[in-house]
Amino acid sequence: MLDSTQLNNYRENGYCVIENFKTLQQCQQLQTRAGKIVEEFSADDISVFSTSEQQRNADDYFLSSGDKIRCFFEQEAIGDSGEIKVEKSRAINKLGHAMHQQDAVFRQFSTDSKLEQICQQLGFVDPRLLQSMYIFKQPRIGGEVNIHQDSTFLYTEPMSCVGFWFALEDATLENGCLWGMPGGHKTPLEKIMKRRDNDIGIEFTQLADNHYSESDFVPLQVSAGSLIFFDGRFPHFSHANRSAKTRHAYTLHVIEGSAEYPRSNWLQREDQQSFPSFEQLRAM
Ligand code: FE2
Repeated sequence: MLDSTQLNNYRENGYCVIENFKTLQQCQQLQTRAGKIVEEFSADDISVFSTSEQQRNADDYFLSSGDKIRCFFEQEAIGDSGEIKVEKSRAINKLGHAMHQQDAVFRQFSTDSKLEQICQQLGFVDPRLLQSMYIFKQPRIGGEVNIHQDSTFLYTEPMSCVGFWFALEDATLENGCLWGMPGGHKTPLEKIMKRRDNDIGIEFTQLADNHYSESDFVPLQVSAGSLIFFDGRFPHFSHANRSAKTRHAYTLHVIEGSAEYPRSNWLQREDQQSFPSFEQLRAM
């Protein structure tokens, strides 16, 4: 799947772009399915207010989403008194975090044999699909995502997380494309996000101070169907989307099955199942 130049570039820069990895039809299928999930979602299922009791509910909604399909709101879609200010289809920030397992259309998209080949080439012995997210980056209100490394949120010992980021629509400077720091995966992991011991909310443990400068980042503008995959320590961010266009993307995260997966990671499966392999997902 990857030639030696692509593999070397990945090792050197921490990321790799493959254009036309998915067809426009496959991108469209995923978008249609995501739209349907949002349509069927009742906003009453989730509290969007910000009082402390409701904050606890929101935390729990997030922390228990590891083996489910849930909808998360765009911050700017919610008014001061908790009302939803835009139509539902434009109010959702993302879906998470187990569409790759729970939904047939997402499952098929996620179990692409080309992905498994890439995992093997990157050195995975037993790749496990940990998490999926569908990101809408809504027109005008699509929020910014600050500089981060994905291993902060999906931590294994030794670190093994790799993120696969699929552009379902053209991702441009205008609609908030990904930005990344070439070579930044060689910097230390800056922090780890952990569940609190009482499972209420999360906290961060600072490990290093990487003093990122935005001038070290380059825009990763890609057309629909492109795949960007990157090391769990690759620093990246995206600006808010102030344009009139959406910027739909789908992400998958893979970890090594033999690596230790600490109980302090936010993502714990309530169903007590282990994280599935490509093969297990295909057999579902
Ligand atoms: Fe990320």
